[in-house]
Amino acid sequence: MSSQHLAAILPSQGSRFEIQQRPTPTPGPNELLLEVHSVALNPIDYYSRDFGFGVSSYPAVVGSDIGGIVLQTGSSVKDFKAGDRVASFAPAFFKLGSPDYGALQKKVLVPAVNTTLIPEKLSFDEASLLPMAVLTTWSGFYSIGVARDTAFKPSDKKGFLVWGGASSVGTAAIQVAKSLGYIVFATASSKHHSYIKTLGADYLFDYKDEDVVEKIVKTAKDAGIFIDTGYDAVGAWKHSMQVLHEAKGDAKKAMLASAPPLKEEEMPKLGDVEAKFVLAPEGDEALAEHFGFVFNKWLKEKLAKGEWIVAPKIKKMGGGLEGLNDALDELKKGASGEKLVLNL
Ligand SMILES: NC(=O)c1ccc[n+]([C@@H]2O[C@H](COP(=O)([O-])OP(=O)(O)OC[C@H]3O[C@@H](n4cnc5c(N)ncnc54)[C@H](OP(=O)(O)O)[C@@H]3O)[C@@H](O)[C@H]2O)c1
Repeated sequence: MSSQHLAAILPSQGSRFEIQQRPTPTPGPNELLLEVHSVALNPIDYYSRDFGFGVSSYPAVVGSDIGGIVLQTGSSVKDFKAGDRVASFAPAFFKLGSPDYGALQKKVLVPAVNTTLIPEKLSFDEASLLPMAVLTTWSGFYSIGVARDTAFKPSDKKGFLVWGGASSVGTAAIQVAKSLGYIVFATASSKHHSYIKTLGADYLFDYKDEDVVEKIVKTAKDAGIFIDTGYDAVGAWKHSMQVLHEAKGDAKKAMLASAPPLKEEEMPKLGDVEAKFVLAPEGDEALAEHFGFVFNKWLKEKLAKGEWIVAPKIKKMGGGLEGLNDALDELKKGASGEKLVLNL
């Protein structure tokens, strides 16, 4: 095995990525060394590059979403072996940019609990769309107290709001909410509605309609559905909270998870509706348990049963690691119903 590999290195805060060789690390007891084939790009990648978000020292390597192959397993790892095809969430954010742990390099260390075996029919590009979106969804559900074993029946008439249904996180939130038995109300541009229906959303609304809140509330009331839980994937917490406020029925309180950060002074409350910023559990043990549930159990089962639709659409970017800076510049301008993917 080569002892060097190519990496996109951040030399200092606010600088562009530089592509350089760096030493290939050896996995610790509960870690895997992966060969990275595909990386999906996320807003946090340019927040890290341009503003130093989630980076404590330099040089740093960042990036989260991987489709790849296991090269080497740590001494305590039982459920993976060299050659396994996997999707994995690189812990760059949790390791504050520590170079061995960022996805934007050809070889990377990841905890085994952050990793899911993928079926043969799933490509590495498709696999790379899964980790951040599914983790962020489950972290949001954890933040607002949605139990993992929630199982509503249609007759329970329990609605769930997803604002930003065409976003990467939103497409996952729709699918997870649906799998728990919720009736899903989602917003997106009209051009995405038929596609988002295939993910399981029951009612679609165009967020550009001036009376979108009224339309959602009326539709829920006419159908006798109460919406007391929701997920804002795009920073539309004011509208989302209005919906919950007016459609929560007799529920004592309603909860909204917000994937984009909420400022402390904004930490909003509207009557009995509360919003929480999406955060994974704190503490090493609780975090590892959360990751293990999401990746080693929940996602693994969904993929094995063919019960997960990879979304949104993939937009392949050229140039490998050398194309990274340009690809992030493009992502920064905004994506609409697509995820940018690089092959390393
Ligand atoms: N807290 C966490 O742990 C965490 C983790 C991951 C991501 N995030 C954050 O979550 C957000 C979403 O990330 P992402 O990667 O899923 O984004 P993304 O896929 O790039 O989102 C793009 C989509 O957002 C939709 N959109 C934009 N404004 C909207 C609005 N006002 N109403 C409805 N839809 C709207 C657009 O829909 P149309 O195409 O229909 O216009 C577009 O398709 C980002 O702010 C990201 O930083 C947080």
